[in-house]
Amino acid sequence: MKLPEFKLEEFWKTYEFTAPYLLCCSDAETWSLQEIVSMADPEAKKLWESLRLGYTESPGHPLLRQEISQLYSTLNADQILTCAGAEEGIYCSMRVLIEPNDHVIVIEPCYQSLITLAQSMGAEVTTIRLKPETQWKLNLEEVRQAFRPNTKLLILNYPQNPTGTLLDPMVQEGLIELARISEAYIFCDEVYRYMEVEESMRLPSLADAYEKGIALNVLTKSFGLAGLRIGWLATRDPILKKISSYKLYTSICNSAPSEILAIIALRAKAHLLGRNRQLMLANLQLLDHFVERNSKSVSWIRPQSGTIAVLKLLLPISVETFAQDLVKTRGVLVMPGSVFDLPGNFFRVGFGKQNMPDILGRFEKYLQLEASHHATAH
Ligand SMILES: Cc1ncc(COP(=O)(O)O)c(C=O)c1O
Repeated sequence: MKLPEFKLEEFWKTYEFTAPYLLCCSDAETWSLQEIVSMADPEAKKLWESLRLGYTESPGHPLLRQEISQLYSTLNADQILTCAGAEEGIYCSMRVLIEPNDHVIVIEPCYQSLITLAQSMGAEVTTIRLKPETQWKLNLEEVRQAFRPNTKLLILNYPQNPTGTLLDPMVQEGLIELARISEAYIFCDEVYRYMEVEESMRLPSLADAYEKGIALNVLTKSFGLAGLRIGWLATRDPILKKISSYKLYTSICNSAPSEILAIIALRAKAHLLGRNRQLMLANLQLLDHFVERNSKSVSWIRPQSGTIAVLKLLLPISVETFAQDLVKTRGVLVMPGSVFDLPGNFFRVGFGKQNMPDILGRFEKYLQLEASHHATAH
């Protein structure tokens, strides 16, 4: 199975540890090891202090799966499979769910492996493009037209990367109805769950809402614990057993320290998510003012969810050139839309980090200078 270059991850490989001012991160503010350990309850503290660094149970520590299952309203611990970050969950699921000649529907732009893994499995992949003219909103009618009797899988990513949009509740219900007719699975990458701007707009997880729904989540994004590499798949469907067997060909089991830290983090989830939501909402307000002040240079469709948004560069310059010069001269990194195969002058910004206000200030100075150059040139 040949895989194409993973544009987004190659982009990060180049810049994440060299560019000093990252303005396009998708994960919320990271916690330190010390902070997490200090949140341990007596049981978890004991687990941490007596930890032996051997193999762990392949599906995940029973207490960890127990904590994860509590994030869902209809699932128990046996309906959770943990994995190395979200990425392993995507990889194993696609390898198990898709066979050559299956029909698969994917919504794009999205996290690249959600499309390219399906394509590389030899499936016939129909992509449905979200468009700025319709506020990046998914049109249920387009999905209806794409569905066929042999559609095996619908792949979603909501809250959406990179647009920060959410599904409307009626659209989610409509998608489930369509999938039921073809007995198709819905795989929903929900890694930005819990960062909805309005908490009332949080939808039921696809794992709860649909009997053949497979939800993917992780401690990387909303929780701010990317370095743990602890993700999970949640589903009531028996396919989970097959995916679990596939994991024996990839990571086999989780890192032992990460599992215990993940248990501690999930038991303290209200605190972790509370702080990260506060940061995200404060930064979103700054972005609101920023877009207002610079409305001749940038525009956006305001995200419904953190921690990412897509902006459009309105200056008469390609966003690629702009982004390259920005990182070279100011050390500020934004992510051009080409990383997502997004046509037009779009770029992604992230607003989950504590240092975002400072970096936004640096970005604004550069943007205003560029705007004045272009104003005098005309
Ligand atoms: C939508 C989506 N899914 C999956 C991932 C991969 O997450 P992880 O780093 O936890 O493997 C990302 C990371 O950017 C993402 O944005």
